[in-house]
Amino acid sequence: MAILVTGGLGYVGSHAVKLLADSGRDVVCYDNLLFGHVEAASGSTVMIGDLLDAGKLKETFDRYAIDSVMHFAALADVGDSVANPHQYYSVNVTGSLNLLQAMIEHNVKTLIFSSSAAVFGEPEVVPIPEEHPKNPTNPYGRSKLMFEEILAECGAAYGIRSVSLRYFNASGADPSGLIGEDHTPEHHLIPIVLQVALGRREQVTIFGGDWDTPDGSCIRDYVHVTDLAQAHLLALEHLERGGDSAVYNMGNGNGYSVKEVIEVARQVTGREIKSVAGPRRPGDPARLVASSDKIKRELGWKPRFAELKTIVEMAWEWHNSHPNGYRS
Ligand code: UFG
Repeated sequence: MAILVTGGLGYVGSHAVKLLADSGRDVVCYDNLLFGHVEAASGSTVMIGDLLDAGKLKETFDRYAIDSVMHFAALADVGDSVANPHQYYSVNVTGSLNLLQAMIEHNVKTLIFSSSAAVFGEPEVVPIPEEHPKNPTNPYGRSKLMFEEILAECGAAYGIRSVSLRYFNASGADPSGLIGEDHTPEHHLIPIVLQVALGRREQVTIFGGDWDTPDGSCIRDYVHVTDLAQAHLLALEHLERGGDSAVYNMGNGNGYSVKEVIEVARQVTGREIKSVAGPRRPGDPARLVASSDKIKRELGWKPRFAELKTIVEMAWEWHNSHPNGYRS
């Protein structure tokens, strides 16, 4: 039996695929290569397909004996989702419904879903616990919240058990140095800052200096991608043991401002890293910091790379050795 991993050639998906493959599991990646890279397959089987292609999804389930699904494939850029909401709802909701339909037809009963801190919107308390009110400030977050809710209803109706993992800011790269972050275009803070360090960009723009935070820039909770991947394995084992559906927040519980991240990157790289002030980015909340006590308590999750400096060091190793990503 195999695990189907949608978006398995993308950033977070490929890190989970590597852990699955390293632990001897059969993996089938389903990826449209929009953000994925075949070099990131870690020896798994690859099906090139889109979530919106219901026929291709069905063909994949017909061809392989799938017993669980990890669902990473999505559009995931907060700013872009404000400009293109229809696309985000199509891929992240309609596409995910296509996947669910194929699962129902093929009697596949367990799913791990990549949700997001973006379901919360501007928090009332930090660190944010799972039950915190959900008021997404952008279509991306709303699309993820909608599918969480769909999963709760479909679970009850069709007996599908699921774990939704709400990532805060996935960052860093696998310790092996074989896989890492490679988006085109790149929107995420840490890779952009490191591209400036490498001389591939002139500067990083700090989106907003007037947020209600100590230094005026946004605060985020950066969590290592390999620690996120490990949580997927724990969630899979939980479902395989017959565990109930659950939702977990995934972060380190430490908030760092954009300015602090740039400063840490200066220390790690020993490079200048020019930054300039810019306007706020639409859809951004000021502060997102996770309480991950629940997954630590219930599934025994223990992040190995919780320090921001370690995360930036590991990201730097990847970017320095792959200045052009997988094409390097
Ligand atoms: N930022 C800048 N300049 C840049 C890029 C980012 O100032 O050039 C800022 C953003 O405004 C934000 C912070 O750096 O305050 C982090 O931005 P990212 O784009 O790296 O990450 P986001 O926080 O926007 O988004 C990430 C994931 C989303 C997820 C979200 C939840 O990419 O999928 O975290 O927190 F929804």
